[in-house]
Amino acid sequence: MQTATTLEMLRSFIAGLREEGGGSIALVPTMGALHEGHLTLIREARARADHVVASIFVNPRQFGANEDLDAYPRQLARDSDLLAGEGVAVLWAPAPSEVYPEGYATNVSVSGVSAGLCGADRPGHFDGVATVVLKLFNQVRPDMALFGEKDWQQLAVIRRMARDLDLTFPHVAAIYGVGIVREADGLAMSSRNAYLSPDDRQRAAALPRAMEDAAAVIADGGDAARALGNLKETLRVAGFESVDYAELRDADSLAPLESDNGNARLFVAARIGGTRLIDNRAV
Ligand code: PAF
Repeated sequence: MQTATTLEMLRSFIAGLREEGGGSIALVPTMGALHEGHLTLIREARARADHVVASIFVNPRQFGANEDLDAYPRQLARDSDLLAGEGVAVLWAPAPSEVYPEGYATNVSVSGVSAGLCGADRPGHFDGVATVVLKLFNQVRPDMALFGEKDWQQLAVIRRMARDLDLTFPHVAAIYGVGIVREADGLAMSSRNAYLSPDDRQRAAALPRAMEDAAAVIADGGDAARALGNLKETLRVAGFESVDYAELRDADSLAPLESDNGNARLFVAARIGGTRLIDNRAV
């Protein structure tokens, strides 16, 4: 695996892949602290493309002033070994100053799908995501890109941006969402799970269980508002401090729903032990 830390290195490694008999390139953007969910993305990318480029960049523009930018786990040597073991061709691991050099002044903002849910709780977050992902697309010029469905709203924002800014030709012709990878007790894998104390980690499994119960009630035609109310109460009793949101939305448009429309998805963000966990599932 080749590791690029400057744009110049990246361009030369990508040119090498394109020259070496060509073949397609898949990009898997990450912020590192890799877990099985990321490795599943890499394996899916390898199955779909000839070469995989993975990026590790803890993007400061998607963290709010009081969020965990400084605490976010950084484990480049370990992550790099994992990626090499999965057959990644190029690791793109730039410093913040390489991505946002002195004088950087451009912001990408996607409206509509970024409103509500995490967009409401984390103002500016999706601008930061869209900005860095557009830059990554321009830097790597992959044929396809893959993202985890755990960040369903993020995926919707990126797809909207790609359509709106005509990014899908000649590069990034496909953007794939890859299903959520869960721990044995159902908790969605996340780099932030590492913040949980052993006690909170055990309690956190109440989240996917409560979502499964609520989804079953809603799919059966039960009262969605009541099911979401019960979900919040279940989380409170399980030891969650707060629920930022628990909502039913259309899976594609992300429009709020009052009942199942046949394409409904449940979205929850809740805090336990100071850690904010998000999850989503089909109804
Ligand atoms: O999902 C993530 O890890 C990040 O939001 C992404 C897509 C790598 C952009 O920084």
